[in-house]
Amino acid sequence: MGSQWSKDKTYIRAKQSGYRSRAAMKLKEIIQKNPVIRPDDNILDLGAAPGSWLQVLREMTNGVIVGVDLNPIVPIEGIITITGDFSDPAVIARIQEHMPEVNGIVCDASPKLSGQRSYDQARSIELNEKALNLARLLLKQGGNLIMKSFQGEDFNWMYKKVKQEFYSVRTYKAHATRKGSTEMYIIAKNFIGTWQAPKESDSDGSA
Ligand SMILES: C[S@@+](CC[C@H](N)C(=O)[O-])C[C@H]1O[C@@H](n2cnc3c(N)ncnc32)[C@H](O)[C@@H]1O
Repeated sequence: MGSQWSKDKTYIRAKQSGYRSRAAMKLKEIIQKNPVIRPDDNILDLGAAPGSWLQVLREMTNGVIVGVDLNPIVPIEGIITITGDFSDPAVIARIQEHMPEVNGIVCDASPKLSGQRSYDQARSIELNEKALNLARLLLKQGGNLIMKSFQGEDFNWMYKKVKQEFYSVRTYKAHATRKGSTEMYIIAKNFIGTWQAPKESDSDGSA
């Protein structure tokens, strides 16, 4: 890891500021360009380990912050962390226990990368779908979503899905993203919040 990391200015800046990873600098930049976190927002962070976005979020809001990850997160004062898959109903129930109201969701979740671009992209889109489902379930009307995705075959399909649910949606490529990465953030503002699960009769061909 040594020389690659030591030459990475973003990593050095993050570490000098006391953040757990270089991802902190991406969130700072994203929020500076797209101010979607309000001072009292309750924020849910999906795919939150090791926790640098949680550190940045703590600086931005006095609201409740909950971070969820498959991997345990070393505790951060004033932040609730849950270990598990954010699409697992038991994990969702625990989120709801701590968050009576969710004003914003941030999702930096990534699959374990295989290096095979189209496979990794498809798995990232699956995570995006799960995060969007969670937004439909938990996000308050008017709430905001920041979600990492990867450009590729299904990106536009995912982008359109998000557009159906929010009044304002754009993409943002962080400067702090590593060279050659297809990573792209979807910034969705002002959740419409009228989504309803399709009824069984809608899909059984009757109607
Ligand atoms: C790039 S890291 C997140 C970095 C984090 N934003 C930070 O600043 O420290 C991506 C994380 O997504 C997590 N992840 C992937 N799929 C997940 C899932 N279904 N549920 C919870 N976490 C998941 C991984 O375990 C990994 O820790």
